[in-house]
Amino acid sequence: MDKFLIKGGKALHGTVAISGAKNSALPAMAAALLTSEKVMVRNVPRVRDLVTMSKLLAFMDAKVSVTSIPASDYAIEAPSLNHAEAPYELVKTMRASILTLGPLMARLGVARVSLPGGCAIGARPVDLHLKALEQMGAMVTTSHGYIEARAPKGRLKGAHIVFEKITVTGTENILMAAALADGETVLENAAREPEVTDLIAMLRKMGAQICGDGSSTLRIRGVSELHGTEHTIIPDRIEAGTFLVAGAITGGELTIRNCAPEHLGAVITKLQQAGARIDALDATTLRVRPADKLSAADVTTEEYPGFATDMQAQYMALATQAEGTSGITETIFENRFMHASEMVRMGAHISVDGRKAVVRGPTQLSGTTVQASDLRASAGLVLAGLVASGETLIDRVYHIDRGYEGIVEKLRGVGADITRVHGTGL
Ligand code: EPZ
Repeated sequence: MDKFLIKGGKALHGTVAISGAKNSALPAMAAALLTSEKVMVRNVPRVRDLVTMSKLLAFMDAKVSVTSIPASDYAIEAPSLNHAEAPYELVKTMRASILTLGPLMARLGVARVSLPGGCAIGARPVDLHLKALEQMGAMVTTSHGYIEARAPKGRLKGAHIVFEKITVTGTENILMAAALADGETVLENAAREPEVTDLIAMLRKMGAQICGDGSSTLRIRGVSELHGTEHTIIPDRIEAGTFLVAGAITGGELTIRNCAPEHLGAVITKLQQAGARIDALDATTLRVRPADKLSAADVTTEEYPGFATDMQAQYMALATQAEGTSGITETIFENRFMHASEMVRMGAHISVDGRKAVVRGPTQLSGTTVQASDLRASAGLVLAGLVASGETLIDRVYHIDRGYEGIVEKLRGVGADITRVHGTGL
């Protein structure tokens, strides 16, 4: 298993370009199942989860081809779908496979999708996805680890759905299911993440009738057929946020290109509150400059437009370097502080009590061997390693490869001393 070796203490300087958003490319590729025509998805990040999604679509008999070098443009064509199934072997490596459930039900009226198990950050049930499909007329059973869903007469019907909890992939699944349903679907308490809005933009280009994007009430008037399109994925706001913290925490000056500052409102505000100097150089470029000093600031994760839970671990790394006591409250996932104990191994002062963590700083971290437990925890550990004295060895970086394109190369490009160590015995 690969590891990262980081020699900390270097201020980062230079320019980094942000890739397309993993959490937008995943539903976009699944949406290609909604039509028999060709769909081009551009600016897809070269990360392992998108490779898994391509395998999943190919398993369903969709033709998936990469049309650009480097591989960030995909052509997907699903004239017929003979396997309306997402097998456990693929789903176990990527929970987002659940995003094929909505399109399969919409297109074929039948689907068999392996239940995604829990993951390091929480139980993560999909009950709200299934309840909503049942409201649209589907008969849904779960047995032997699989969701079996079937729409009577092969077509879902519109419904008035109120999500008990805001769910991002739940909203995306029902958007895709409703796009070909009979009648209108009203979806209340829907997610407002930019990735949801990006999916709506793509579905509209395919001929879907949707209104309310950006709000928590979406109206989808089902149509009988959708057609092919071309769609360019939005930049990855979590990757951009991670580099903002990298600049702020190392005391360097970074220019972050190809990003969407408007998607990072709450993150930028919080980092500025902590003392980071961040400004937008233009509509797609942010600059972060060294803070005089970093000061503690409490944060609570929330659904968009609140502070993203996917930035919590990165913020914790910053809080270890801030003067004072920062309270971090995680409201989205019940077990998303796995990185805290690894940072404590590096010398950080962090106490965790349920969904609340308290970080006292500033602390000089010292390099050691740490283990990544999930995608964003790994990013938090990389940031901690960048400011630690000596060497930090991060184990299980396969987690980070799932969602960050070329993070070693990008960090080296701005002066970090980081190397990927392939399967070493160290
Ligand atoms: C999406 O996951 C993202 N993944 C996650 O990013 C992100 O952390 C999360 O949204 C929250 O922003 C993708 O877009 C592929 P949810 P999702 O359904 O949709 C509960 C990353 O690092 N819930 O919005 O799975 C759930 O347990 C990943 O890139 C139910 O109870 O998250 C959680 O507590 C990690 N029942 C809360 O709702 C359901 O049916 C929000 O989850 C669905 C969700």
